[in-house]
Amino acid sequence: MTLNWAFMAISSSSKHAIVIFVALILLSNRANCDDSLHANKGNTCLESERRALIAIKSDMYDPGEWLSSWTGYDCCKWRGVACDNVTGYVTRLDLHYPDEYNPWVEIIFVYDYEYNPWVSIGASKVNPSLFELKHLRYLDLSFNNFSYSHVPHMIASLVRLEYLNLSNAFFYGLIPPVLGNLSHIQHLDLGNCYTFPSTLFSNNLSWLSNLNSLQYLDMSCVNLSKATNWLHQINLIPTLQVLLLRHASLPCVPPSLPTFNLTSLTRLDLSGYEWNISASMLRWLSHASNLEHLDLSGCLGLFDAEALSVALGALHNLRKLVLVETQIAGEFSTILKNVSRMLQYLDLRWNFLLSGEISTILSILPRRLEFLNLDNNNIYGRIPEMLGNYTSLRHLSMFYTQITGDIPRTIGKLIHLEYLDLSGNDITGEIPSNVGNLTNLEVLYLSRTNITGSIPESLGNVVYLKFLDLSENKITGEIPNTLGSLEKMLQLDLHANLLTGQIPTTIGRIFNLSYLDVSENHLTGEIPITIDRISNLSYLDVSENYLIGEIPKTFGRLCNLWMLDLSLNNIIGELANLLDGLSNCPQGAALSYLRIADNNLSGIIPSNLGLLAQLEELDLSSNSLQGHFRAMFQDYTNSNPCHDNNLQCAMAPMGSYRPKDKILITAKGSTYEYIRILSLVTSIDLSHNNLSGEIPNELMMLRDLHFLSLSNNHLTGTIPENIAVLTELFSLDLSMNNLTGTIPSNLSALNFLSHLNLSFNNLSGRIPTGNQFLTFDDPAIYAGNKDLCGWPLPECPSDEAQRGPLHARDDDDGNGSKLEKVLDYAFIAMGFIIGFWAYWGAMIMKKSIRIALFQMADRIYDWIYVQLAVKFGR
Ligand SMILES: *[C@@H]1O[C@H](CO)[C@@H](O)[C@H](O)[C@H]1NC(C)=O
Ligand SMILES: *[C@@H]1O[C@H](CO)[C@@H](O)[C@H](O)[C@H]1NC(C)=O
Ligand SMILES: *[C@@H]1O[C@H](CO)[C@@H](O)[C@H](O)[C@H]1NC(C)=O
Ligand SMILES: *[C@@H]1O[C@H](CO)[C@@H](O)[C@H](O)[C@H]1NC(C)=O
Ligand SMILES: *[C@@H]1O[C@H](CO)[C@@H](O)[C@H](O)[C@H]1NC(C)=O
Ligand SMILES: *[C@@H]1O[C@H](CO)[C@@H](O)[C@H](O)[C@H]1NC(C)=O
Ligand SMILES: *[C@@H]1O[C@H](CO)[C@@H](O)[C@H](O)[C@H]1NC(C)=O
Ligand SMILES: *[C@@H]1O[C@H](CO)[C@@H](O)[C@H](O)[C@H]1NC(C)=O
Ligand SMILES: *[C@@H]1O[C@H](CO)[C@@H](O)[C@H](O)[C@H]1NC(C)=O
Ligand SMILES: *[C@@H]1O[C@H](CO)[C@@H](O)[C@H](O)[C@H]1NC(C)=O
Repeated sequence: MTLNWAFMAISSSSKHAIVIFVALILLSNRANCDDSLHANKGNTCLESERRALIAIKSDMYDPGEWLSSWTGYDCCKWRGVACDNVTGYVTRLDLHYPDEYNPWVEIIFVYDYEYNPWVSIGASKVNPSLFELKHLRYLDLSFNNFSYSHVPHMIASLVRLEYLNLSNAFFYGLIPPVLGNLSHIQHLDLGNCYTFPSTLFSNNLSWLSNLNSLQYLDMSCVNLSKATNWLHQINLIPTLQVLLLRHASLPCVPPSLPTFNLTSLTRLDLSGYEWNISASMLRWLSHASNLEHLDLSGCLGLFDAEALSVALGALHNLRKLVLVETQIAGEFSTILKNVSRMLQYLDLRWNFLLSGEISTILSILPRRLEFLNLDNNNIYGRIPEMLGNYTSLRHLSMFYTQITGDIPRTIGKLIHLEYLDLSGNDITGEIPSNVGNLTNLEVLYLSRTNITGSIPESLGNVVYLKFLDLSENKITGEIPNTLGSLEKMLQLDLHANLLTGQIPTTIGRIFNLSYLDVSENHLTGEIPITIDRISNLSYLDVSENYLIGEIPKTFGRLCNLWMLDLSLNNIIGELANLLDGLSNCPQGAALSYLRIADNNLSGIIPSNLGLLAQLEELDLSSNSLQGHFRAMFQDYTNSNPCHDNNLQCAMAPMGSYRPKDKILITAKGSTYEYIRILSLVTSIDLSHNNLSGEIPNELMMLRDLHFLSLSNNHLTGTIPENIAVLTELFSLDLSMNNLTGTIPSNLSALNFLSHLNLSFNNLSGRIPTGNQFLTFDDPAIYAGNKDLCGWPLPECPSDEAQRGPLHARDDDDGNGSKLEKVLDYAFIAMGFIIGFWAYWGAMIMKKSIRIALFQMADRIYDWIYVQLAVKFGR
């Protein structure tokens, strides 16, 4: 009440006074609280420790406001803090970065300049106040960014610590041996695998032997290459249960090994150990009778199949065995013949020197197996009926092996299966209809096999299915309507099959779908309008079918669509439908790849094409588009303050912005408005249409353009003089138009240009010389322009006295001219090399290969997704 009154009565100029007034009230309240807190100390935190925590917070940067609860007086209630409920001392401090860092995510988005992989909390140094918290038993600083500072020695003064997690916190240098003072420590995590190359090292592990309560030790990716005695020193810690030393650059072990002492060991990871894992080391290991998880992946010196077999035979409690990419040669059955009957998890990917028949391998493995991965191995033979006996299987992956024959019907018994991948095998026959019984399945990959028959309708029962890839097979029949029941599906890939009929309208029910590829089939009918309901759709490829009708108007609602390919169909109508819709997307359209080549589109190129601010590739070639090419830029020129195509003027404001948000300032009335333009476009193909008019100056705003084809249209006018501003251009095709005038001489400044076609126009005058033009020695480039002259065409009439550029100096014999000649050739070579690689480099990122990359990344994503899904349940 009083405050309300105050606000009404006091003029706005006194607002500062009010703020101060309110602040005073709040402060006085706090003072009262403080008094009351001091009264019952035991239950809340100590003031000195609270101050220490505040000091620690002041050194952390915390963009996620993760520490926002760190206010008020009872620090024991702060996030990540816990106190002893009797003494009130802070015993637990958990400041780890909350979201697990995922290195794969970075790989997937490595081409996405806007992606910021890791906003970490953290500090450039560890605040010394930390060491005032003497009663800490649990300290977790993992996944922060301490900017390559040293691990502070003072941590060793926190002698009550039982748990210390410094993993992946960007520490640098020697792990201080005083950590050996932490005699109560049970869990010590110094794993450092997300910084590469490794930034932490230890040259002598003798300090570890003081830690006689240690149960868990992770020194993965710590450089231990100088710790020659590592095995003996670790062998002195019989309390160890978990030992993770993956990629720790461990040095080789001397032949004489100590008696095995690690009798409590349940988990051992030595993956990436490069030295010889000798028979004696395997014998030493075989005494680990409690071992449940063993990972020897990437151990390049693991050769002895027989000794490994004996060791595995002794590990009676082994539940998980990971042997990815080793150098062992021989038969899988040799290694596995005595493997523990407790085995649940077996990962044997990428063992190129091992081979075996699938039925023999299966017959050795225990029935309780839940996870089996044999990808990329030399495994042959038919999948046996007996597969159906492994009813505990959740994950079965055998892609790119030599397996042949049909998928046995008994697969329907694997009702716990969540992941099935048999891609890239010579599998024949049909997909058994009882896959519909696998109701827990989330991932089904059967691409690149020789599967025939139709897609079983029963797949519609597999309601948890998220990823279905049946691409590149010989599947016939129609896409079953029942797939529409798979509401959880994220990715549906049926491309390159022999599917017929229409795309079912039920597809619109798969709300979550983000990737749909039915290209390269024999599909007919229209694209179902229901697709507009799949608002997450980001990838849609229906190219190379026999689809008819117009682009559905409702497509314009697909604001998340990133790639749309309708090429090689019989689509008619205008592009405007699509653009009018997309222009209403609240966040702007995501469309980056628009490919509608080889259809029967008519009408003009819509003027609002520029609304596609993310567009990188535009392929509308081989349609019946008409009108002035200029139309596509119309919206800008109408409101452009820089009239008369004064390009310098139009380009000027762009310089002041970073490339990623290139924008063009245009005028609307008297106020300036920012309009994003097609500034990201790298590829435009409008060849084989009926476009007319001149090549508009606005085209030169597309500074990232690599590929431009306008061939086979009716373009008139001249090649713009300033085309040389398109410095990234590597392919330019203007052939089969009605262009006149000369070839602009500054075109030769385009160093990356490696493909040029100007044939069949009405160009005249001398062909430019020098630089990149020296590489264009094929007269066909200029054919059909009767008034062009100069190398590589016949010399120009007016130049009879002189010679072409290459031969002009032949008569000269001076040293200076020799040098020039050498330079000339050097330029040719350079021009060629730069042009060649720019062209092919960019082609690599084009079309099919780019899609392949995308799919690979997607697979990795799928894999992570499935791992997480399996880990956390549904
Ligand atoms: C203190 O906490 C421990 C463990 O959280 C609990 O077992 C114990 O009962 C608590 N003691 C008191 C006095 O609250
Ligand atoms: C960590 O901090 C350093 C220096 O402050 C910085 O250069 C580096 O990029 C940061 N790393 C990450 C992953 O945030
Ligand atoms: C480690 O222990 C030694 C011997 O007890 C002691 O002298 C040293 O000060 C301790 N170091 C730290 C950092 O606490
Ligand atoms: C240390 O922290 C990381 C990430 O916060 C976690 O993955 C790891 O399991 C922790 N180590 C231990 C021993 O708990
Ligand atoms: C490792 O350190 C211990 C104790 O500091 C020392 O006795 C031993 O000689 C060292 N070993 C090596 C190989 O340097
Ligand atoms: C086994 O561990 C104990 C305790 O650290 C140690 O005394 C003993 O020497 C070790 N034995 C071997 C063979 O390393
Ligand atoms: C294993 O599967 C085969 C073929 O399906 C069957 O004949 C056999 O009885 C099964 N064995 C066991 C032990 O279940
Ligand atoms: C499919 O069969 C053909 C012909 O037998 C064979 O050449 C091809 O390698 C097979 N495909 C796969 C993926 O094994
Ligand atoms: C498995 O699928 C077949 C055919 O779809 C069906 O007849 C059978 O009842 C199913 N079995 C179970 C256990 O669900
Ligand atoms: C070029 O222009 C001439 C005359 O204007 C016209 O007859 C001819 O058809 C045009 N050629 C093309 C390919 O448009």
